[in-house]
Amino acid sequence: MLLKNLEIPIILIGFMGTGKTTVGQYLMNQLHLSYVDLDEYIEQRESITIPEIFDEKGESYFRKLEFKYLNECINQFDIISTGGGIIENDASLDLLKKQKQVIWLDCDIKIVFNRIVNDPHRPNANNKSLEQLKNLYLSRISRYNEIAFMKVNSNQNVSEIYQEITTLLSSD
Ligand code: S3P
Repeated sequence: MLLKNLEIPIILIGFMGTGKTTVGQYLMNQLHLSYVDLDEYIEQRESITIPEIFDEKGESYFRKLEFKYLNECINQFDIISTGGGIIENDASLDLLKKQKQVIWLDCDIKIVFNRIVNDPHRPNANNKSLEQLKNLYLSRISRYNEIAFMKVNSNQNVSEIYQEITTLLSSD
């Protein structure tokens, strides 16, 4: 499928477990565009896993890496899925604000909780109760909202999400 006036990069933002990676890969396959998952990119470039970065260097160090590699990826890839906490860092938030196609995937917190509860690969979800996770989600909503060009409900299946995104991207 070809979309007229498609601006790149398309950047997917949203809380953990809202389907950014699944949707990013689907967009890549359907639109024949290059794609990167920022978390995976960081792990590859730094040769260390995200839980190890959190453990050994702390979250604020991770946020600086996230900004550094977001900058790099914006100039290299057509579609980027970001980590749910990227908006915690002011430099990343400012950079994202300047991008035209930032898509916010949002979905019910209970669905998110069931998907990511005790995921050892997600230090900010691991060992959190539904209430704690909901509080983290609520604390981030205004920042997602501030930078999003469009918001898509990701309770739907991936092909429905794809339809919604491409309709919005191709409308004048
Ligand atoms: C985080 C989300 C993760 C990852 C890191 C921190 C967060 O990405 O960047 O574990 O603070 O929300 P996903 O949103 O892909 O899980």
